[in-house]
Amino acid sequence: HGSMDVGVMPAAGKLGLASGLPLPALMRLPLERKDGALQGCLTAAAVRLPLLSGRPATEFWAYNDSVPGPAIELSEGETLNLRFDNRLPQPTTVHWHGLPIPADQDGNPQDPVAPGQGRDYRFTLPAGCAGSYWYHPHPHGHTSEQVYRGLAGVFVVRSRNDPLAHLPERWLVLSDLKLDDDGGIAASSDADRMDGREGQFVLANGAWRPRLTLGVGERQRWRIWNATSARVLKLALPAHEVWLVGTDGGLLERPRRVENLLVPPGGRVELAVTGRFAPGLPAGLLALPYARGKMMGPEQDKALSLAEVDAGEAVATAPLPAKLRRIDALPRPAVKRSVVFSENMANPAAMFLINGRTFDMDRMDFTGKVGAVEEWEIDNQADMDHPFHLHGTQFQVTERHDGKGWRREPYLAWLDVVNVPPGQKVRLRFRQDMPGPRMFHCHILEHEDAGMMGMLDVR
Ligand code: C2O
Ligand code: CU
Repeated sequence: HGSMDVGVMPAAGKLGLASGLPLPALMRLPLERKDGALQGCLTAAAVRLPLLSGRPATEFWAYNDSVPGPAIELSEGETLNLRFDNRLPQPTTVHWHGLPIPADQDGNPQDPVAPGQGRDYRFTLPAGCAGSYWYHPHPHGHTSEQVYRGLAGVFVVRSRNDPLAHLPERWLVLSDLKLDDDGGIAASSDADRMDGREGQFVLANGAWRPRLTLGVGERQRWRIWNATSARVLKLALPAHEVWLVGTDGGLLERPRRVENLLVPPGGRVELAVTGRFAPGLPAGLLALPYARGKMMGPEQDKALSLAEVDAGEAVATAPLPAKLRRIDALPRPAVKRSVVFSENMANPAAMFLINGRTFDMDRMDFTGKVGAVEEWEIDNQADMDHPFHLHGTQFQVTERHDGKGWRREPYLAWLDVVNVPPGQKVRLRFRQDMPGPRMFHCHILEHEDAGMMGMLDVR
């Protein structure tokens, strides 16, 4: 490793944002068992929250007045019946990112909830979908703004036989905060719209560089969400022992020892972290420098500290099972399609394209079949990274092309976002088990809003 240069983002401290507070616990959505479902209420509205010392409270848009929104936790097989009310000045939807649920409950841009209106979202969680998901707005053209103003929350699905149930859990929702000089949420600049928005602060559970405690030798299970608009987070805990145990759609087949790992915007990981506190190495959670081919301004050139980790008492290390679960490789595809990302800077009205086109709510780009395995090749012919995301199911990446040749993916995992750097390609397979329109798009939210999105009609 050697010494590691850990930086603070420019202009950070000046605004009066406190760092080093204890990691905030996420608020939980109260759920009540009634009529065979778990019932809850979610309201999106403006709220003023104290953020900066010595300044008036900052206006956010939040679910149930909380940033991040309340965490929702259910088990496989359970049904959620959620009343949603929109008290925002804009239409919105609630999209259940990554969950295999019916298309008409998935908060698609075609199903907006007008200001002052509400609707129910109701769905049952199928067997085998235990994992770390999230929910966020998805109205066409306003997703980025609604997310950066504070609308996003996590959704954890539990399995009744979880091989890691014995480990204490930490949940970390990473988000970006960009403030203006008055301490309000800044409007997006042209550069933000082009590159994807990054703020002066990367927050964990709404706090800047919070502290958490890990016992010496203690093994904890960390779920981490990349809820930033645009950052590809190259996460590392250099002082500790880290195993990747799960991805977007739940556990891997077996733990994999990792030094660092790339989590694209929208993506999640589950880690088994053992407190080692190797001397000379930063004890915290870092985002290592990663160049994502931005067009404006410098790339991040220093590691960012996302959370500080304090050494707790020595604790016996809990075992990490060698096998977590079985994942079957998806069979040979019935259909192959190609998805090409490109940029056209000469046309500000349609700058980010998929197969040469910009999103049209009335156009189906592809027609697919319920239950048929599809193979998609995502080909990034643009100049910056574009993380590909598909609704309604999880996929398996089979191969990647780094510009020189194809390489088989070394292990099976369920994902719903995969980063595709410029000049590279990714092949993935999936099956949609329910009919209806499913969006696919770049998960840099500014690009999605700009039309880097298409629709698969599953019949
Ligand atoms: Cu997380 Cu279509 O989005
Ligand atoms: Cu993009």
